[in-house]
Parts: sequence; C-alpha cells; structure tokens
Amino acid sequence: MSNSIAFVLDGNAVEIGFDRSSRLAPTTTVLNYLRGLPQHRGVKEGCAEGDCGACTVVVGELRADKSINYRAVDSCLLFLPMIHGKQLITVENLKGSSGNLHPVQQAMVDFHGSQCGFCTPGIVMTLFALYKGGTKPSQDEIAEALAGNLCRCTGYEPILKAAVAACNGGGRDQFSVDEARIVGLLKSISPDGISLSTDLQRYDQPATLDECLVLVEKFPDALIINGATDVALRVTKKFEILRHIIDCSRIAELRTVSSDSHALTIGAGVRISEVMKLVKNDFPGLYQMLTVFAAQQIRNVATLGGNIGTASPIGDTLPVLMAYGAEIILQSRRGMRRVKAASFVKGYRTTDRQPDELIMAVALPRPSAVSRIRTYKVSKRRDLDIATVSAAFRVDLDEKGIVSDITLAYGGMAECTKRSISAEAFLKGKAWNRQSVEGAQLLIDMDFSPISDVRGSAEFRKIAARNLLLKFWSETTE
Ligand SMILES: Cc1cc2nc3c(=O)[nH]c(=O)nc-3n(C[C@H](O)[C@H](O)[C@H](O)COP(=O)(O)OP(=O)(O)OC[C@H]3O[C@@H](n4cnc5c(N)ncnc54)[C@H](O)[C@@H]3O)c2cc1C
Ligand code: FES
Ligand code: FES
Repeated sequence: MSNSIAFVLDGNAVEIGFDRSSRLAPTTTVLNYLRGLPQHRGVKEGCAEGDCGACTVVVGELRADKSINYRAVDSCLLFLPMIHGKQLITVENLKGSSGNLHPVQQAMVDFHGSQCGFCTPGIVMTLFALYKGGTKPSQDEIAEALAGNLCRCTGYEPILKAAVAACNGGGRDQFSVDEARIVGLLKSISPDGISLSTDLQRYDQPATLDECLVLVEKFPDALIINGATDVALRVTKKFEILRHIIDCSRIAELRTVSSDSHALTIGAGVRISEVMKLVKNDFPGLYQMLTVFAAQQIRNVATLGGNIGTASPIGDTLPVLMAYGAEIILQSRRGMRRVKAASFVKGYRTTDRQPDELIMAVALPRPSAVSRIRTYKVSKRRDLDIATVSAAFRVDLDEKGIVSDITLAYGGMAECTKRSISAEAFLKGKAWNRQSVEGAQLLIDMDFSPISDVRGSAEFRKIAARNLLLKFWSETTE
C-alpha cells in the first residue's frame, strides 16, 4: 500500500505524498487543490455542491483497450485520491503549444458564448468532453451535456451554437496526438492500493476486492465511498472531518455487468451514465428516471450502489428497483446474500447492510410480458433537481384485465422509500379500471403522512401521489 497518489497533470506525472504534516488532506477536493496552484485558477467555485458546473474539469481514464475515456466531472465533489492513476485536464491545458485556441474555445469566441466569463471555463470543459466523445452530438445531447452548467448572463443560445459548430464528430486535437505518451504515463502509475494517513484522517483505496473486504470488516466505523457525490457534501458544506474513508472505486468486481434471459446484473460501482446505456432498451422505466438524475458531471461519477447506499427518501433509483422486483447483492468475508430492494431500506437513511458488507451489485429481473412499468419524478425543474415526490409502479394484468400483482413505490412521501401497501392490497384481484383506481387513490392517504418542506407541502405531496396513480392507469390502459 502506497502513502502517495499519482496522476497526470499538464502532460506530466505528478506525485503527492501524505503524512502527518501534509498541507493537503485526503479529502481536499480537486477544486481546492487546483485553486492552490498559480497556473490552474481558471477553474471556479460557484456552489461547492455540484449544482453550477463552474468547477467542471475533465478526467481522462484508461479504457480496457488502452485508449483514454474523457469524462466531464465537478471538481468540487472529487477528493484528491479519486484521481489517482488518472489524467486531470483543466481549461489551461486546452490551448495548443503554438498558442492557438482549442476548437471548443474558438467556437465560444466566434459565437459570443461568454459575457462575465465566470461560468465559461466550466462550459468549455463540458464542451471539450463532448468534443472528445468523437461523435457528432444531436441538439438533445448537447442540451443534456450542458444541463449541469449554469450561465447567468450570456443566455444559452450562443453556447448551444458554439457546441454545434465545434463538436463536429472528429474529436481530433492535440490530446489525440499526445495520447499514446499519456497512456504510457498512466500505465507507469503503480496499480497497487493506497493507504493515506495524516494527523486527522485515514483514506484507504484498496485495489482488490479481498483487500477491501478485509478493511471493511476490520474497520466497521469507516465510511465507504465510491463516487462520493453524496458524501463529499459533508466536507464541502458541513465542513466535517471524515476520520476514515474506504474508497472502493478501484474494485473491478464492483464494475462488472452480466446479463442472461432472466436478469441483468449491474455492479454497484457502475456509474449512472453507464447504467443508462445498459438499461435503455430493456428497462425503460429505470432509464426514464435516470434521464432526470442530477446532471452529466454527477452521473459520470455517481454509482448505482452509492445511490442505494444513501437510502435517501428522495433517491431516484430505489422506488424503480422496487417496481422491477430487483435484488441487492451484498458481500462480506462471511459470504454473499441477496435482499429484495423492497426490504433493503429499514428507515431514514438506514439499510439492511451489515457493517462488514459491501453492496456488490443489483440484479434486475427481466419483466414479464404482462408487466406494465412506469416511473415519475415530480420536481421544481426538470434537470438537476431533487424529487418532491417520485413514484415507480408496476402492474401485472391477466388475460381478463384483472390485476394479478402490483407494486406502488413512492419516494418523498415518508422517511424512506415506501410502498402503498393498502392501495396495492385493494387493487389486487380487481379490474384495472378507473373505478378501482379511484378507490385505491383514497387509500394512498392512509399509508403516508408526508412532511411539508421547501420542495412542497404535505398536501401537495398527497395530491401528487394520488394523481400519479391515475396518470399511471391512464398510460397503461387502452
Ligand atoms: C448536485 C447533486 C445532484 C444530485 N441529484 C440526484 C438525483 O437527481 N437523484 C438522486 O437519486 N441522487 C442525486 N444526488 C445524490 C447522489 O449523487 C447519488 O445518491 C449517487 O448515486 C451517490 O453515488 P456515489 O457513488 O457518489 O455514492 P457515495 O457518495 O460514494 O456514497 C453514498 C452512500 O452509499 C454508501 N456506499 C457507496 N458505495 C457503497 C458500496 N459499494 N457498498 C456499501 N455502501 C456503499 C456510502 O457509504 C454512502 O453512505 C445528487 C447529488 C448532488 C451533489
Ligand atoms: S462549484 Fe458548483 S458544481 Fe462545483
Ligand atoms: S458568462 Fe456570466 S455566468 Fe455565464
């Protein structure tokens, strides 16, 4: 185990050691690290919570085929050890050696995409990642990529035009010319795990599952992270000192995916942006929900396991996993076990996971032909917002149109994701018609006592919950 991290910045390998007298902490964010370097202050802090995109940088990561995958990420939510073994690219790196602007920068100039300029480095980096995607993005894909970048003064039209002009599908630039050398540098960084200790903190990033399970068993009070998009806010907003972190983002087994005729099994460490590609065709209800999950910079880092691990009452995936009848696979040194998503959450941000267990994967059974599944997220705005109420419903109808099975899972209605058990029991065995649904709507009120908060009143939540059921019925009936 090494007590230092290494990554590539400005085209060179950089090593940072951590010891008792380190100036940097393991939970120093990449944003704060960069802002401390005189030549990397283009990156900006707007919100320090993943909402504005001013801090967007690009992280280059080796693919299995030894090419580099470039992802736009929010540097305000990234702990420094999370870029170990990766390439960090900032806006200062985009200018060519002869001083010429990168095509995305030139397009922003040509189309007047900047006024005060505060958001511009972040927007340029988002466009750079899109450019490096190497395919010509559609208007929707451009809008999707930019949903995580706020601009208060220019207005988006010139920025969208710049994106269309610059991202023409080539993806070639000075980074392509230098890629083989960077791949060599990344490969030269030790693949071993790291263990960083300072006066106040310990940060373990094991490289194998075995090492990780030993650590999790030995230190049951340590905080497990993967993407840290949830956990990082404890540092950036609440200024907590997290004493011991076990970062499981390097474990290959957590990123495996397997598929057969019965189920799709997705590793807990698979990022949300990858999950979207995996489920788009066969699990449209889950895909639909993920299209309104945060923004791309977050989805490029946040994991499926992390979303389940939060057990947040307004987390987007748990209601959907319940509707699909998914199972959560847990692993410890004692063995492996499977728990139905519906019984995994025990209360407010508490789960059935034992302290020595890792969330390993999620098994999604393929829905039968009689199942109709829909998902809904009610929030104040479409993108980058937290649900006021969310719902995921599944109804199985027999050949006479009678409900043979039904799951009505809600987020935002209780202290944890919860099913409307009374409404489900009422509907089972009844005809799937408006009369039955109106009867069930009354019972939803009996199952939930939601709270009023900044996102919506209790009354609003109750009405939304009832109406979502009616909407589901109208969408699943001929
Ligand atoms: C700006 C912003 C917008 C967001 N928008 C949304 C949204 O629209 N919808 C939504 O649902 N969430 C949203 N989130 C919350 C968060 O991004 C997600 O919950 C995300 O999926 C967490 O994944 P992660 O890998 O980053 O988890 P982490 O932060 O690393 O971990 C989260 C929790 O899970 C546990 N954990 C992680 N991996 C494992 C594992 N393998 N085994 C055991 N425990 C584990 C951790 O201990 C921790 O308790 C948002 C967050 C931000 C900052
Ligand atoms: S500073 Fe706003 S997203 Fe990072
Ligand atoms: S140019 Fe001012 S915020 Fe975008």
